[in-house]
Amino acid sequence: MTTLLAIESSCDETAAAVLRDGRELVCSHVSSQIAIHAKTGGVIPEIAARAHVEAMPVVVGEALKSLSGGWDEIDAIAVTRGPGLVGCLLVGTAYAQMAAVARKVPVVGVSHLAGHVYSAWLSDTGLEPPYLALLVSGGHSECVLLREHGAAEELLATRDDAAGEAYDKVARLLGLPYPGGPVLDKLAREGDPARFSLPSTSLSDSLSFSGLKTAVRYLVRDLPVTAYLEDGSLDRQVQADIAAAFQARVIAQLTGALERAQERTRAQQIALVGGVAANSGLRAAVLERFSGLKVVIPPMALCTDNAAMIGAAGWNRIQTSGYDRDGFDADPGLRLFA
Ligand code: KG4
Ligand code: ZN
Repeated sequence: MTTLLAIESSCDETAAAVLRDGRELVCSHVSSQIAIHAKTGGVIPEIAARAHVEAMPVVVGEALKSLSGGWDEIDAIAVTRGPGLVGCLLVGTAYAQMAAVARKVPVVGVSHLAGHVYSAWLSDTGLEPPYLALLVSGGHSECVLLREHGAAEELLATRDDAAGEAYDKVARLLGLPYPGGPVLDKLAREGDPARFSLPSTSLSDSLSFSGLKTAVRYLVRDLPVTAYLEDGSLDRQVQADIAAAFQARVIAQLTGALERAQERTRAQQIALVGGVAANSGLRAAVLERFSGLKVVIPPMALCTDNAAMIGAAGWNRIQTSGYDRDGFDADPGLRLFA
């Protein structure tokens, strides 16, 4: 039995988790920086890195409280090596490697993207590769086929913004708080998707959200004065109708891409992962579109950034490639299984 301490710090969540043999989750703690970044409407990398330095010993301490022996029970450490913001990744990779030396345990560097793909494997013990994952988050939007443990193929990716990034930017255009995804998702349920017309994007080999985002920008710019309240903010029904139209376009594009990837690979198992997998409309659309296949959508806490998924990916990496014996640097451009 391997008891693994997993650490995540690639963007704006500092997280630590403990897992036994990759799939038994003992605990998962996440310290979110949302309150810090809400003030600036987005993540400022240096502020995020400094916040990780403060939060890291706290979340690791919380995670170790779940073990009666504390550090003495930890056999190995897994840490996110990339992709992400370099200053943030350096906090986690330095902390993990120093702790590994101090505790005389081995360490493994893990791809954050592999972590998201493995969040589905962690949440459903009946799921084994091969499976097709739609990974949609604030930093990434791609379709990935996990052929077997340690071997994944990227089938298509966004050529510009990530889906979550588009949600955050559109929310800002509508005067809504950061992060925009959850707010827009809620508003979209009250809106009429047919009131405003927005362009549909359907590319055979990639995803793209920047055209849609720009269309929302022009739509907001050209709204009549009646769309605004006396204090200058947008009327709530206008916000809801734009949110509904935007969300319908995003869902149509994502489900269309997933359908093409499924037809190409003939995958019989589908996973929806990443922060945008928390979207109620997308969850419902994927479940309906692929009702004949096994569809795994992890619980919300495993969709947004967390260390449990890094532990699951790390444990599988240890099985296929062993530990990283020579030390490693943070890698902001790391791909799926580098
Ligand atoms: O996976 P995640 O926590 O961090 C990254 O690795 O990027 O994803 C965060 C993103 C944010 O852009 C946020 O707006 C989006 O996920 N998000 C959502 C929802 N909840 C979070 N987007 C759409 N609908 C949601 N319900
Ligand atoms: Zn993520």
